[in-house]
Amino acid sequence: MTEQTSAISEWHDTDAVYAALRALVKQPTRPIRRECMQEVLAYFDQKCQRSKELTDAAQKVIPGGVQHNLAFNYPFPLAIERTDGAYLWDADGNRYIDFLQAGGPTVLGSNYAPVRRKVTELLESCGPVTGLFHEYELKLAELVSRLVPSVEMLRMFGSGTEAVMAAIRAARAHTGKKKIIKVGGAYHGWSDQMVFGLHVPGTGRFEAAGIPALASAHTQEFYPNDLSGLHRLLIANQLLGGTAAVIVEPFGPESGTRPVYPDFNQKVRELCDHFGALLIFDEVVTGFRSGMGCAQGYFGVRPDLTVFGKCITGGYPMAGGLGGRREVMLHLSAGIGGTGERAYVGGTLSASPISCAAGYFALLEMERTDAPAIAGRAGDRLTRGLQEIIQRLGLPFVAYNQGSIVHLETGAVMLLDTRNPIKLLREMKPRRHMMEEMGAAYTAHGLITLAGSRMYTSMADTDDVIDEALNRFESVLRSVEGVA
Ligand SMILES: Cc1ncc(COP(=O)(O)O)c(C=O)c1O
Repeated sequence: MTEQTSAISEWHDTDAVYAALRALVKQPTRPIRRECMQEVLAYFDQKCQRSKELTDAAQKVIPGGVQHNLAFNYPFPLAIERTDGAYLWDADGNRYIDFLQAGGPTVLGSNYAPVRRKVTELLESCGPVTGLFHEYELKLAELVSRLVPSVEMLRMFGSGTEAVMAAIRAARAHTGKKKIIKVGGAYHGWSDQMVFGLHVPGTGRFEAAGIPALASAHTQEFYPNDLSGLHRLLIANQLLGGTAAVIVEPFGPESGTRPVYPDFNQKVRELCDHFGALLIFDEVVTGFRSGMGCAQGYFGVRPDLTVFGKCITGGYPMAGGLGGRREVMLHLSAGIGGTGERAYVGGTLSASPISCAAGYFALLEMERTDAPAIAGRAGDRLTRGLQEIIQRLGLPFVAYNQGSIVHLETGAVMLLDTRNPIKLLREMKPRRHMMEEMGAAYTAHGLITLAGSRMYTSMADTDDVIDEALNRFESVLRSVEGVA
């Protein structure tokens, strides 16, 4: 085990980030010049024929032609065939630097061989699932408990979404209270009660097609960093059945796209204690990516419950886990027959030997290699390089990072909010389209990003990889309107 260093070398100047983001949102958009966009579209037409054939066929049998929200579909999705470390290859053999990293779980880099070998060994002997207990469940729970002291007990689930559902159910069962408060814009999966205030703060049930109003009747949101707003809700809720839990992404909504101030989480902890609500950290993204002690270790705040996903199984299915205080976790006791206090949860494939072994070996490897810190330094290098390019080209765009989570805001659609509803309605669509175009342009230059505005770095991102990426980013940013 090497000496662990933090993935975050320094928390950014949050005021400066918001000032730059506000300035960006005030300006008219700066999309890619039309003639350059034609070249981007020509890349897809000429170099991605196999992807086009496959994803055209998929349109007929898969709704929308693509199963993953993070898969780009403008002008059409790419079919991916091979991954290795910092790179992936599409079905036409084009190579890309992979800053999606599957949406965050692969801090060691894609398809990391030592973990793959362990998983393959276990598959050979045990198969993927038995429905019975396997020693790796114990090993993973003990390991997570050692790395994250607030986790006295751990239970595995099928996904982050499921783990959030379990967290809420356990919090309600434990406190006997109803309301769940989240931060506007944060993502906590797609359960009925959490499709509320998604992406853009203040939007409540905006995306709640198919969800009865009663299902989210006890979900509430407050604006990012608005501790007085949270305080008001907690006071009002005392007369409305009480607050069972406050759930936060500890870096801020959408993996720190609207970042928190460094003392935010501690202040939320204090408010929760005052009002007898549980504090749930949703560490689906930050868990182990921000360091082996997770975001709670970085901020020194102890939540009652922690939701895990992604890294908890090292990029292998089924990636969900919930850990926390023993007396709360005991509400989720499994086995046949329950008590009145049992909060019902389940899952045929949850805690499969494969999930638990993959998580166990991936976390051990991350700890041994100090992968979160190495990925964090790569994120710092990428961010500094982007900031330098943006400044040199005189662009209003904003780059900032929390270690290996790198934000590059150009269209800034997520920074709109309902406090300016006219602007929101008028600009949401064009800004979203600009992000699609930016994403397509990055792709045509050999860079895969998350939604054209976020990059996850990994241990595989050497200085050479980052420098090659920066050259590619510069080519795209040079093609933006108004750059000479
Ligand atoms: C913060 C956060 N919570 C919950 C989830 C849901 O996890 P899953 O996609 O595994 O259901 C995500 C997914 O990206 C997430 O980013």
